[in-house]
Amino acid sequence: MSGVTPPAEGRVVWFTGLSGAGKSTLATALHERLVARGERVELLDGDAVRENLSKGLGFSKADRDTNVRRIAFVAGLLARHGVTVLVSAISPYRDTRDEVLAALPNTVEVFVDAPLSVVTDRDVKGLYLKAIAGEIPHFTGVSDPYEAPISPDLHLRTDLKSIDACLNELLTHLGVHDVTH
Ligand code: PPS
Repeated sequence: MSGVTPPAEGRVVWFTGLSGAGKSTLATALHERLVARGERVELLDGDAVRENLSKGLGFSKADRDTNVRRIAFVAGLLARHGVTVLVSAISPYRDTRDEVLAALPNTVEVFVDAPLSVVTDRDVKGLYLKAIAGEIPHFTGVSDPYEAPISPDLHLRTDLKSIDACLNELLTHLGVHDVTH
């Protein structure tokens, strides 16, 4: 028998929340910190996934669910090989989110939360203005549902705390003792 030990399963940190709530910002910041610690980590970000893995999918419930299931499938493959996976996707439907998270190992569900009024004001990508004007159908929070997690592992209010404070809370929750900052 060879003495090769398989890697321990990686964690899957799943960021869910409205567009503009800060999911990608937090996931990217966490990614940077974990890479700096030499951890094997991959970021599956909504926009990038939709340009590649989920190209051609829209924003109907069926398409969003397909997108979320594809992300979860890839996350599972990576985690199986000991990679920490950070997922940033609106993933608005509770039943689908709960289903995929239940099937993944070592999950941490992070609700990145800011009220609709705040994300609309921020309007980082200029999408809310268009959505409110009716130019983007099925826009989450405006003309499409967002079902908040009932008991997320971590609930981060990005309107009440700075990104740095949220990141520190996240690092503490993950038991990551930051050596780089
Ligand atoms: S989902 O629901 O999980 O499949 O969505 P996701 O893959 O995370 O993609 C969300 C990004 O797509 C842009 N966008 C929209 N979001 C919500 N509703 C509609 N109709 C829509 N159309 C385009 C938007 O830039 C989202 O990016 P984030 O990073 O969330 O701001």
